[in-house]
Amino acid sequence: MSTNKRELKTLIVYESKYGCTEKCAQLIQEKIKNTEIVNVKNAPEDIGFYDTIIIGGSIYMGKIQRQIKAFCRRHVKVLAKKRMGLFICCMFTGEKAKQQLINSFPKELTEVAIAKDCFGGEISYNKMKLLDRIIIKLVTKSPESEIPKLDKQNNASNLSIEKIDYFVSTLL
Ligand SMILES: Cc1cc2nc3c(=O)[nH]c(=O)nc-3n(C[C@H](O)[C@H](O)[C@H](O)COP(=O)(O)O)c2cc1C
Repeated sequence: MSTNKRELKTLIVYESKYGCTEKCAQLIQEKIKNTEIVNVKNAPEDIGFYDTIIIGGSIYMGKIQRQIKAFCRRHVKVLAKKRMGLFICCMFTGEKAKQQLINSFPKELTEVAIAKDCFGGEISYNKMKLLDRIIIKLVTKSPESEIPKLDKQNNASNLSIEKIDYFVSTLL
């Protein structure tokens, strides 16, 4: 009798405008054995082969990237049967962040995902396009802004490595 068991395979599919979500995806990959990581643009059409699928994107003006939405919609039936993790990078916290997470993925997936969380986010001013810089400057000037104050280099971060660790431990 053969004792050779097939090793469990994980796929991480992400989209990232300025690198924060990509960094989170890479941190997750380092912590889970046998994990492939792809930008959603290069995601395989056949995902049946993977045991666990993790999907992550970032939030701009309240919305996750449309390519992530399209990937989830296209594969919703297969994804709903997998071990699944869903995450977003965003600067809002608390209930507003949770609402953004829920709005980002189809209900059929948020209801069955083993792990789902908002990891926080990063504003990397130097990397940003002019329009995004203007929006961020305007938004952070408002006293009611949900985005933390920018530092002297106009950067901000509330990314939580602890949340990423907890997310991974839930999936292992
Ligand atoms: C123009 C702009 C709009 C943003 N809108 C939101 C938003 O509506 N809600 C939120 O929580 N974060 C918002 N953010 C913060 C991003 O989600 C955060 O910077 C995230 O880490 C970006 O990840 P990425 O580099 O992987 O794209 C915004 C950032 C920019 C630059």
